[in-house]
Amino acid sequence: MDIKILGISGSARKGRNTEFFIKKVFEGAQEMGHTESLPGDIETDMISLAAYNIQPCTACVKCDKVGEEEERYCPTIKDDLPIVIDKMLWADAIVLGVPVYVGDVTAQMKILMDRCEVVGSGSKRLKLKVGLRNKVGGAVVQGTLRHGGQEFAAATIHRFFIFKGMIPVGAMEGHSAAGPWGGMGVGYPYGSAISKGNALEKDELGIKACRDLGRRLALVTKMIKPYAAREREEFIEWHNKNIAKQDL
Ligand SMILES: Cc1cc2nc3c(=O)[nH]c(=O)nc-3n(C[C@H](O)[C@H](O)[C@H](O)COP(=O)(O)O)c2cc1C
Repeated sequence: MDIKILGISGSARKGRNTEFFIKKVFEGAQEMGHTESLPGDIETDMISLAAYNIQPCTACVKCDKVGEEEERYCPTIKDDLPIVIDKMLWADAIVLGVPVYVGDVTAQMKILMDRCEVVGSGSKRLKLKVGLRNKVGGAVVQGTLRHGGQEFAAATIHRFFIFKGMIPVGAMEGHSAAGPWGGMGVGYPYGSAISKGNALEKDELGIKACRDLGRRLALVTKMIKPYAAREREEFIEWHNKNIAKQDL
């Protein structure tokens, strides 16, 4: 069964360090591509929150109350949230990637997490209830320092996955000790542009952790998908019927 992996960069900057490490996760995932014992191709896609306008939740709580589909997904704030949530619903596995900001995720990523209330397993909007449930999740975090708070930010991301009924995975691969929490890296130095040379390629440990995460993410997603897909069928049927046939 084919699987789709979405990477979301919560960096304030497009095309920089966070995206570099998310791409390493994709490379690892592709190593778990189609084989006889593990059938299914792997499709990947990446978006950057820096490209979208997503405003903070105002706690109007209407997403939990409105019963119908026409106001997807937030009845109060008209911004780019639907584009991102559509992408998340499209995926079987989601990699949330951030630069560490003051020892945690960026504000951009936290805003997205809060606005995902509507696709929580607790949503009263039945059609969205299945939301992100049983999707597999991985964390990618990099900062200027090797120990700059990556694990705290990863814990925030893992808590988000748990709150959404997702299945968090880390990067323990056999005897590997590169990254139990996922892809933890160093954005060398002060986030220098990838185009300025291959500074980031020097973070062999970070890259290994990301690749290990990718392999594990793909493996677990292939194991989970047959069940998760059946559960989601009803949702997808509704989604295709009711949501304009836009390109997801
Ligand atoms: C407001 C702010 C806070 C930061 N806090 C941390 C931190 O706590 N720990 C750390 O290691 N790096 C910290 N950094 C550095 C970034 O995490 C680092 O430059 C990262 O590689 C940038 O990723 P990007 O290229 O995707 O933007 C901070 C940077 C900014 C702008």
